[in-house]
Amino acid sequence: MQKFLTLICLVALLTACSKENQTNRVDSRIDSLINVMTLEEKVGQLSLYTSDWDVTGPTMRQGYKEDIKKGRVGAIFNAFTAKYTRELQEMAVKETRLHIPLIFGYDVIHGHRTIFPIPLGAAASWDMEAIEKSDRIAAEEASAEGLHWAFSPMLDIARDPRWGRIAEGAGEDTYLGSRIAEARVRGLQGKGVGELNSVMACVKHFAAYGAAQAGRDYHTVDMSDRMFREVYLPPYAAAIKAGAATVMSSFNEFDGVPASGSKYLMTDLLRGELKFNGFVVSDYTSIMEMIPHGVVADTASAAALALEAGVDMDMQAGFYEEALGKLVKKGTINEQLINTSVRRILKKKFELGLFDDPYRYSDVEREKNTVMKLEFLEAARDVARKSIVLLKNGQLPRQEKLLLPLSKEVKQLAVIGPLADARKEMIGSWSAAGDWKKSVTLLEGIKAAVSPKTNVLFARGCNISDDSTTYFAEAVRVADKADVVVLALGEGAWMTGEAASRASLALPGVQQKLVEEIAKTGKPIVVVLMNGRPLTINWIAGHIPAILETWFLGTQAGNAIADVLFGDFNPSGKLPVTFPRSVGQIPIFYNMKNTGRPMDRNNKYTSKYLDEENEPLYPFGFGLSYTTFEYGAIKLLKEHITTQDELTVLCKVTNTGTRAGEEVVQLYVRDLIGSVTRPVKELKKFQKITLQPGESREVSFTLSIQDLAFYRSNMSFGTEPGDFHVFIGGNSRDTKAAKFVLD
Ligand code: BGC
Repeated sequence: MQKFLTLICLVALLTACSKENQTNRVDSRIDSLINVMTLEEKVGQLSLYTSDWDVTGPTMRQGYKEDIKKGRVGAIFNAFTAKYTRELQEMAVKETRLHIPLIFGYDVIHGHRTIFPIPLGAAASWDMEAIEKSDRIAAEEASAEGLHWAFSPMLDIARDPRWGRIAEGAGEDTYLGSRIAEARVRGLQGKGVGELNSVMACVKHFAAYGAAQAGRDYHTVDMSDRMFREVYLPPYAAAIKAGAATVMSSFNEFDGVPASGSKYLMTDLLRGELKFNGFVVSDYTSIMEMIPHGVVADTASAAALALEAGVDMDMQAGFYEEALGKLVKKGTINEQLINTSVRRILKKKFELGLFDDPYRYSDVEREKNTVMKLEFLEAARDVARKSIVLLKNGQLPRQEKLLLPLSKEVKQLAVIGPLADARKEMIGSWSAAGDWKKSVTLLEGIKAAVSPKTNVLFARGCNISDDSTTYFAEAVRVADKADVVVLALGEGAWMTGEAASRASLALPGVQQKLVEEIAKTGKPIVVVLMNGRPLTINWIAGHIPAILETWFLGTQAGNAIADVLFGDFNPSGKLPVTFPRSVGQIPIFYNMKNTGRPMDRNNKYTSKYLDEENEPLYPFGFGLSYTTFEYGAIKLLKEHITTQDELTVLCKVTNTGTRAGEEVVQLYVRDLIGSVTRPVKELKKFQKITLQPGESREVSFTLSIQDLAFYRSNMSFGTEPGDFHVFIGGNSRDTKAAKFVLD
């Protein structure tokens, strides 16, 4: 045994030594390279430009190929395919003096070619394995097309559904968001940067971009340090801890300073506190945007502010290229600062293996054998159906059965609505290199699922967002003929994502009128929602018996929805974000504070509205199933704990229905008295379990002391003794509770 242990120690020591040697070797190669680089070549490494394939901002970069040949570019984005990346890489490697390879980046947000649900949708699966797998596949496809770097994951907590980019993140909750952050980094980076089927992750948008005032994109962010550290920072921190290779600075200001010029964010916090050691890239022209922000007057000051703050790479502004050389020559900035950033970027190029073989990711054969493989499509269908949330399933008058799942034998099935056969919309916003022509529409999914005897009828009803009611009459005629109507309503894919804020959360165009017209036929209706944000659907919730929230589910959308509609898959998704009743309730989220005058309907002088309820339409964590689950009383292994303890919390969950089903068991905590106020509930754990009909399981959670810690009045992170409540349930509203004391 002794000998065996010695051997293990020896192997560990040798591995550590060889890793250290390797690091030293890379460091000295980088040093020698930096020693021979001209100032222009160094600045080139700090510049990232788009190819002419996709752009999201004003500065189209003409002549980027000339820039590459002149060594003025360190990385390119929006260029992919094995062939094209090879072509550009050859320019960099063969035609520049020092042959330094390029990094290729791209917005691989929810899949590359095989498109998975939008991130907000995938978050509704609460399934970390499924999310990790979707990013693993995205990385396999992207890397096979010559890409080294995904501008993902987007980890901005969003509590305002008006903000269109809520679609790109994991929703409103810090704990769920942090677990998803880790899963996505694991998925993208796989066994590590440098593995052929991995890409570097990019944590974005640092920081707090999701808190744009009034939900208007790019708008001011202003919050307390406490709010930032408790709510917004943890997902970024979790991703960095999980090893994310890069970080993107956000567009917004933070405490009065645009993030791309904030030394506090980019250096003190990121590198100092969070120990991040990769490189930081600005967001698209965000260095330039510091001029209209009003913190600098010109190019040179913007470039200096960003570099000194700790932004290593300038995306698309061209300000580093224009100004840094001159600033060094004038003595305004120290060349060592540039060297530091160059070193960070070159290090990643070494880790990616590009100095050994710059073309290793650009492999036509691998690309052909990888992209949109059958198993990837199957995985996309699986993640998609796991992301669907059943919001309502009611009985029809005079019938005992619930409306869903539908029978595949139904004789006349009408599929109506502007999203019923909307191929282009299925893959949602930020769908990378996804080809919408390859996506499956709801109509197609339904046709493929029903029995040969079923007659599937179709009518568009109206367009997504215009005012025309021309097609209403035909839709009503079709509905009249049907035994059941599936009505697909929602937003266009373009209505969420960047620069897609909305002041209204109602169904766009005349869709509300359409559903009211169809409802008048008296036919049983299932509303299938497709949208990238919570919508205010009070009328539908009050009048339509069944509602499925399907987000934008990606390439396999139609098949996945049909799986749920006809009961081949029992829905298990849970909302990662609160659905408000009206825009006036925003920001609305489950983990609010109690206030000094908590709502009391009978007392005017309490915290409430005159014209709206306080409660949301659907709470965070909510989602039904085709079976039912019953939660037993919470059992605590101890009722008193000390700071040296852990607390085991048990709860028996029983499947009381007639189908097997998955349930996300959620555990929330409330610290009753603190030196600063604490939220009324905070998600601390969850487990997804499968139960057969009649089966019970005692679900066990372990709460650590860290789970009870918070930023105390002096901003130190830790616990305070006192009473706590622990809640367990299938959503954030309907929970069982128990009490314990931290001594
Ligand atoms: C977005 C980023 C994105 C970048 C590159 C920007 O407009 O804010 O999320 O990664 O463009 O496409």
